[in-house]
Amino acid sequence: MTLAIGIDIGGTGIKGAVVDVASGELVTERVKVPTPEGGEPDDIVAAVVGMIGGFGGRADGLPVGVCFPAIVRAGRTMSAANVSKSWIGLEAEHLFEAALHRDIFFVNDADAAGIAEAHYGAARDVRGLVIMTTLGTGIGSAFLYNGVLVPNTELGHLEIDGADAESRASNAAREREGLDWAQWAERLQRFYSTVEFLFSPALFVVGGGVSKAHDDFLPLLRLTTPIIPAVLRNNAGTLGAAALAADPSGFATGGD
Ligand code: BGC
Repeated sequence: MTLAIGIDIGGTGIKGAVVDVASGELVTERVKVPTPEGGEPDDIVAAVVGMIGGFGGRADGLPVGVCFPAIVRAGRTMSAANVSKSWIGLEAEHLFEAALHRDIFFVNDADAAGIAEAHYGAARDVRGLVIMTTLGTGIGSAFLYNGVLVPNTELGHLEIDGADAESRASNAAREREGLDWAQWAERLQRFYSTVEFLFSPALFVVGGGVSKAHDDFLPLLRLTTPIIPAVLRNNAGTLGAAALAADPSGFATGGD
């Protein structure tokens, strides 16, 4: 068994668990706490320190992977869509490392989810370009080419019909506007057909908590690319962050 800790920071909740990265199974219960009001760096870091402390002796010396809803370049958060703007430009990886007194692997949340689906889930052994999307508070994306991640794709911020795609097609937009499945599917259709036209992927994988209701909206989409639900659902970010902490080799970086 190779163990690592995965922490998934989101706009609404922070999740974490100790993971067996060989099998992709959680070896502790998944812990979840609400994201501190305002999403300020010090508060989020404190919540993560508390969560890892809660794993007790089982966490000692384990590699830690943390995923976060922002562009992450060389450990710095370069955007902040659903958390405080004070993350923009912050040396976030160092902040966590100083508070946790150890190295961590720090990565975008959708990228971590994509790695998890490629290693353990719906995109396992798929060749060519897989585009993983997470439909949640925002829309996250991950590009995996032959299983290797090309990070920071940010398709949720594609401008479609004059608007940021996630402001119209995220699961939060569905809830906020009280859209029924058919109305939401029309928004998703605009998003996925634009992405399909631009990138011609081999496969779309759709994650985020709402993907458990995939029967209600995926069959309404008309695409030539196969589109399938993620299998790891809400654990994908946690599993992917842990997998990358244990073995960063699936992460394509050049200058970073
Ligand atoms: C952020 C992405 C993130 C996605 C899902 C977007 O608003 O810009 O970095 O992956 O939300 O959380």
